[in-house]
Amino acid sequence: MKGLVVLVVLSMLCGFGTSKECTNTPTQLSSHTFRYALLSSENETWKEEMFAHYHLTPTDDSAWANLLPRKILREEDEYSWAMMYRNLKSPLKSSGNFLKEVSLHNVRLDPSSIHWQAQQTNLEYLLMLDVDSLVWSFRKTAGLSTPGTAYGGWEAPNSELRGHFVGHYLSASAQMWASTRNDTIEKKMSAVVSALSACQVKMGSGYLSAFPSELFDRFEAIKPVWAPYYTIHKILAGLLDQYTLADNAQALKMAKWMVDYFYNRVRNVIINYSVERHYLSLNEETGGMNDVLYKLFSITGDPKHLVLAHLFDKPCFLGLLAVQADDISGFHANTHIPIVIGAQMRYEITGDPLYKV
Ligand SMILES: *[C@@H]1O[C@H](CO)[C@@H](O)[C@H](O)[C@H]1NC(C)=O
Ligand SMILES: *[C@@H]1O[C@H](CO)[C@@H](O)[C@H](O)[C@H]1NC(C)=O
Ligand SMILES: *[C@@H]1O[C@H](CO)[C@@H](O)[C@H](O)[C@H]1NC(C)=O
Repeated sequence: MKGLVVLVVLSMLCGFGTSKECTNTPTQLSSHTFRYALLSSENETWKEEMFAHYHLTPTDDSAWANLLPRKILREEDEYSWAMMYRNLKSPLKSSGNFLKEVSLHNVRLDPSSIHWQAQQTNLEYLLMLDVDSLVWSFRKTAGLSTPGTAYGGWEAPNSELRGHFVGHYLSASAQMWASTRNDTIEKKMSAVVSALSACQVKMGSGYLSAFPSELFDRFEAIKPVWAPYYTIHKILAGLLDQYTLADNAQALKMAKWMVDYFYNRVRNVIINYSVERHYLSLNEETGGMNDVLYKLFSITGDPKHLVLAHLFDKPCFLGLLAVQADDISGFHANTHIPIVIGAQMRYEITGDPLYKV
């Protein structure tokens, strides 16, 4: 096992077997298995060594100065921000000639089929999940009392990915309810939305997560952290599914408030540093942030939602696709496929022909 780790580390140091990133600066450990082992290790010496090898020393401002043609003039940043905003504010209208999904509310499976059995199994599994356990770390983070016990694994109270499963739960239960109209699942999923809403209200900024916002400080500072936007995407997607499939208006309000919070965060990164700095931070996995924000924009029509969606498009990757460059091998699939799906959503919503290629 140790030999394997050494081999992995060596191959990463030599640049073999690593996932590619868009910038020339390797800022992240690309293997999730390895990263998990590293982040959960208590060997501080090992951690420090690895971070020093893979990352810019987080506090080393001079490294930044050498790497980035720093924009000295604050007004320039604000100008490009304003231009980007203006370009996106009046998007092209899409032709709307797309296949339409049949609503899950109108589809029922044949009870003698294996598919119905599979659906039943899934329903029974979802019903086994406990509301207090699901929201345990959200309550903890919000400073509310925490009845029940937290789940383990990647939902464990010390896992940096905690909360993402709850986002999946919100999506799965909304889809299950639309497909079965099982009242018990509806009560449970509504209870989860209400409990999360109480956490969001308690925190008061719009932030809603099972881990503290300090993880986003690290994300923005290009310090090691495990994919916080990946989890935020799952929660936003879950809330939107609760709204679109189960008519839960509170869920939409919560999603909008969350997005206000993250819009301000990203805006601060761009104003305080540069848009390049924001794009550099996107080398850490961000799930389908662009996809869910384009969906939100299609519901709200709020140009802020469109701007933020665009800022999660990851141009250094989509640009390669747009010019059909044969250079995409080696990119981490779970990071980049959601971005392609988001690009499709962008095309469906804005009709931007660049995204059709
Ligand atoms: C911690 O990591 C260092 C550097 O890789 C290694 O030399 C040391 O043996 C490790 N300590 C423990 C207790 O595993
Ligand atoms: C929901 O589904 C479970 C599992 O199939 C079933 O036992 C229960 O009766 C259903 N509840 C309602 C209210 O339909
Ligand atoms: C960025 O700017 C905002 C508002 O202008 C400020 O509150 C925040 O502390 C700044 N953050 C950093 C990391 O400079």
